[in-house]
Amino acid sequence: MSEKTPPDTGLNGAGEGAEGSGSGVDMPWDSGVPVRQADAGTRLPDLQDVSVLQEMKVRVHRQLLERLNLSNIDALDKAQVVEEIRKVVHDLLAREATPLNYDEREDLVTQILDEIFGLGPIEPLLQDPTISDILVNTYNRVFIERNGRLERTDVRFKDDRHLLQIIDRIVSAVGRRIDDSSPMVDARLADGSRVNAIIQPLALDGPHLSIRKFKKDVLSAPDLLRTESLTPAMLELCQGIVKARLNVLISGGTGAGKTTLLNMLSESIPAVERIVTIEDSAELQLRQPHVVRLETRTANVEGAGAVSQRHLLINALRMRPDRIIMGEVRGAEAVDMLQAMNTGHDGSLTTLHANNARDALARLETMISMAGLNLPEKGMRQQIASAINVLIQVERLSDGQRKIVSISEITGMEGEIITMQDVFVYERQGVDEAGNVVGRFRATGIRPRFTDRMMAYGVELPLSLFSNIEA
Ligand SMILES: Nc1ncnc2c1ncn2[C@@H]1O[C@H](COP(=O)(O)OP(=O)(O)OP(=O)(O)O)[C@@H](O)[C@H]1O
Ligand SMILES: [Mg+2]
Repeated sequence: MSEKTPPDTGLNGAGEGAEGSGSGVDMPWDSGVPVRQADAGTRLPDLQDVSVLQEMKVRVHRQLLERLNLSNIDALDKAQVVEEIRKVVHDLLAREATPLNYDEREDLVTQILDEIFGLGPIEPLLQDPTISDILVNTYNRVFIERNGRLERTDVRFKDDRHLLQIIDRIVSAVGRRIDDSSPMVDARLADGSRVNAIIQPLALDGPHLSIRKFKKDVLSAPDLLRTESLTPAMLELCQGIVKARLNVLISGGTGAGKTTLLNMLSESIPAVERIVTIEDSAELQLRQPHVVRLETRTANVEGAGAVSQRHLLINALRMRPDRIIMGEVRGAEAVDMLQAMNTGHDGSLTTLHANNARDALARLETMISMAGLNLPEKGMRQQIASAINVLIQVERLSDGQRKIVSISEITGMEGEIITMQDVFVYERQGVDEAGNVVGRFRATGIRPRFTDRMMAYGVELPLSLFSNIEA
């Protein structure tokens, strides 16, 4: 295969492909490997010799470019273009020596369309609802997360250049660029999926692309009970906590389920309340009728126009919110969030990245220091202890299960130390033969002090809920 520069997106100019002849044409997706084996849906025919199919794809792709001018494709009606391409590809395939059945031809049409309109070889992964994350570690190593577990797929790009073209397509669609001077970009796909791309020289081995797919059907309370992420008693407590307008901090590692839990907790917010959400990348899907959704903005190519969570929070406070939900605190905005919680905006919810509850409090302190207020350590801790009532820790276990591993009440300060007490904990007991974690949820027997406040809000929980005789 010659190393001719491939066309920009694989298909954006009628002239490019026409220049090539015979098998020397360099199509971006001509990887020499079936590109969709990991996909549960369509697959290449087993009967066919893969290399014959690959060659056929290249040939047909090239002929398609000769026939159709796709350079102004964005201006055309997509449905019409798809129909046109489908017709031409079927027509071209009919002239091929190796006959393909209808399904095989359709499969090829899909792959070509994925190159033109989608994200090439990973498009089927994007369409597969059982996949939650797509992680591309250079062109030939594509991993997915499915049911909480990482798997390697057979999907691959032709080479790093092909991968870079797809990354470029993603980031340019949101008005950003990726190159030597800006080798690290966050973006979002049209469907809301979160994307991060990082290339050389920062990524040593080549371009990397990480996609957290947007889940249209977020997991709600019954789903989390089904996945045994918590018990009915813990759910009842969580719902009471939100109804009683306690301030909640959810903490957990990457992909542990923080946003999912935040979304689930929000379900308990009464429909009459005005909710303002602040996120770096809008993921929350609240069902209440009165929701104001705010999203930060990164600087443009000239480095101007950035709007941070901090700015948005200050603005949100002027919008008469009943509740403020911040998707995740990462830096100085933690100060404003705590201040808001301390000054009457109770019932606020947020998350942060930490591996255990104690660590979460330490991270908050670090974030407060980042705001440059020069508060003494004790002052910072007082702020934290008085602002946050409940700390919920979530964890992604080694087998992919997501669990609420503790629900703790922040009770105040003792000397210099923030005091808290666990109300529910998850106890890991071992691992079975299949590698699944075995454990159990347990009430610690402590009845949290905030139950008084709950009662004031009409939330009455049976005492037995906190009994450690039966979790
Ligand atoms: N309790 C759960 N049971 C099963 N799957 C879950 C659960 N919670 C989250 N998930 C799945 O795990 C993935 C990550 O969830 P989520 O986005 O909530 O995590 P996160 O901690 O917010 O991640 P990040 O650190 O990237 O922000 C999603 O695909 C989600 O559907
Ligand atoms: Mg999250």
